[in-house]
Amino acid sequence: MSEQAIGVFDSGLGGLTAVKELIKVLPQENIIYFGDTARVPYGSRSDETIKKYARQDAGFLLSKNVKIIIAACGTVSSVATELPDELPVPFTGVVIPTATAAVNSTHNGKIGIIGTSATVKSCSYKNEILRQNDKLTVFQQDCPLFVNLVENGFISEDDCIVQMVVERYLSQMKRDGIDTLILGCTHFPIIAKAISNYLGNHVTLIDSGKETALYAAHLLSRHDLLNQSNQNGKCSYYVSDTVESFMHTAEIFLGQSVEKVKHINIEQVALQ
Ligand code: DGL
Repeated sequence: MSEQAIGVFDSGLGGLTAVKELIKVLPQENIIYFGDTARVPYGSRSDETIKKYARQDAGFLLSKNVKIIIAACGTVSSVATELPDELPVPFTGVVIPTATAAVNSTHNGKIGIIGTSATVKSCSYKNEILRQNDKLTVFQQDCPLFVNLVENGFISEDDCIVQMVVERYLSQMKRDGIDTLILGCTHFPIIAKAISNYLGNHVTLIDSGKETALYAAHLLSRHDLLNQSNQNGKCSYYVSDTVESFMHTAEIFLGQSVEKVKHINIEQVALQ
């Protein structure tokens, strides 16, 4: 069982923020990643469509016999809340690990949350933060253009387009005086440097991909599912659109070559 892969999915490149951390903390694990690049973005779609896509994505990973599923997608984690109950393997989304990290990080009690429109509308992070501590003040802002920037390879902090969009979305939160910002969409940590340059070092950025990977490591250990091998694991990547553009941005972000990328037709997959 333990040599089976960890399954990770997202609407596109964003879930790689979780993969990057998994490779660091659990180098011996095999990872199967699915990025639904043909249907990204999820964040501006209806709840019904997001739920349908989430079931297909998880169904694909189950067909690869994974031992755990990580929905490395703020949108799916916020909207497809019934998904974990339908799965035969342990599951985690990003909301609880990320909200917990933010609650533990804030000093002035002002937490900002940025995510896709669907995530912000769901109030998933906000509700979880206030459930943990109702004295905190929470500010929310949806930032859908960040997803398009990342998917199209606009990820450099020196890029003036990235800087302009960051300022447009975050100027109000800067004025509100937050000291902690949840990057509640897993695409956003890919442009974390630009966000941090704008807000300043005194604002702690909480990376939803990273926090979720750390949480998943605990989950695997709790279920006795850690791979005991002393060799490095392998990562395989699947996408629903062309492999080339994914490979290019994935390599820049992960800082390592991404060799095994295959195309699949996700529309044909169903959750059994
Ligand atoms: N990476 C995703 C998230 O965390 C989704 C972005 C999108 O598809 O809109 O919300």
